[in-house]
Amino acid sequence: MTPITDLAVRIEQQLPAELADFMKSAGNMAADGGEKLYLVGGLVRDLLLGEANLDIDLVVEGDAVALARRLSAGQAGKITIHHRFNTAKLQWRKWTVDLASARSEHYPRPGALPSVKPGQLSDDLFRRDFTINAMAVALAPQSYGQLIDLYGGLDDLEHRLVRILHPKSFTDDASRIWRAVRYEQRLDFQIEPETLGLLRRDIPMLDTISGDRVRYELECIFKERSPEKAIKRAGELGVLAKLHPSLTGNGWLADRFDQARRISFPDQKLADLYLALLAYRLPDDDREQLVSYLRLPKTLARTLRDAGAVRAHLGEMANTELRPSQIYHLLGGYSSEAVTANLLAGDLPPARRNIQLYLEELRSVKPVLAGRDLIDMGVTPGPGIGEALRLILDARLDGTVKTRRDEERLVGEWLAEKSG
Ligand code: CTP
Repeated sequence: MTPITDLAVRIEQQLPAELADFMKSAGNMAADGGEKLYLVGGLVRDLLLGEANLDIDLVVEGDAVALARRLSAGQAGKITIHHRFNTAKLQWRKWTVDLASARSEHYPRPGALPSVKPGQLSDDLFRRDFTINAMAVALAPQSYGQLIDLYGGLDDLEHRLVRILHPKSFTDDASRIWRAVRYEQRLDFQIEPETLGLLRRDIPMLDTISGDRVRYELECIFKERSPEKAIKRAGELGVLAKLHPSLTGNGWLADRFDQARRISFPDQKLADLYLALLAYRLPDDDREQLVSYLRLPKTLARTLRDAGAVRAHLGEMANTELRPSQIYHLLGGYSSEAVTANLLAGDLPPARRNIQLYLEELRSVKPVLAGRDLIDMGVTPGPGIGEALRLILDARLDGTVKTRRDEERLVGEWLAEKSG
């Protein structure tokens, strides 16, 4: 098989015409200024694999910010500049393009942010994580569409291998350990044996990166089509244990993740549900360690804690005699992802049935009458309003009122009882 070296046709076929046209004119404009422009990163990999991807990362051997300004002059849109990194983001209509100056990187110590200086394309590609992500496509007019593959990326794509570019890669940036697992599982590749050896050796280096960066990698995994594959692999390799030693990525979890995708309620964040499931079986102290290590945002930390709290009440929830209003008030204060985690992972089937009823029906039940209506009916503003609202809500939940008239009658009776 002749290796693919000209990607011009693939750019035309795989990208929307507007983006393909943009790349061509960007290449021309850079050439007019005596600079060379390249498409780099994940999109090059995905063009070769025939996968959909619209994330355009461009690298220029020259001044990215100045080029971005020239490009945006002809385009109605927004430009965001980061002078510190010499990068720019162009946004117009639904498109986004990132532009950076080619640079070389040096890691002063493991896990530290790299120091960077201007460089050639070859330096810029060499600083990247894996060979399959370290290819570029020339956008200059004379060589438009030519693949630049300095580190064997195409060969690794053909052999379905995830391979680092140099032995210090994981030490420099241990987040690449998570990334290796993610790409391997997403693409159904293998981590190349030498890379795998270095990955295993460098697992302790995960301690050199911040919880924020690990959280970001987890978020990326949770956006994958089947995150359970990466979590399982991370479990086998001992990477998951670095999050917390008690975490496992076994078949039980994989089944729960699969179900989570199937039931997904539109108001819920699937990624939050995945994390609640991953942490579901952790005792309180261990869960708190995970929350602080990952520096979880408040709402997500609350979801994890709520999942534990609901779990602690599953015995109560398993009572088949519970009225709908009781179920509602037992679960109503918790984040809905936390409740869903218990639907998927809770041990007691009767409790799960009650939880399902809550999620599918009860939580969206609302009385017809509002506070204003109650005041018009003679309820005194103040705590009485809340009391009456709860009365009609409970009656609605339990099916004893069905219409506005029923609600009004109930409030009337309640008022009469109070005054009598
Ligand atoms: N990169 C890296 N080391 C990291 C993170 C990123 O070398 N720790 C490089 C990779 O070469 C990657 C590029 O920076 O191609 C952009 O990173 P990112 O946006 O995370 O990846 P994409 O390729 O855009 O997205 P994906 O691969 O998930 O499709």
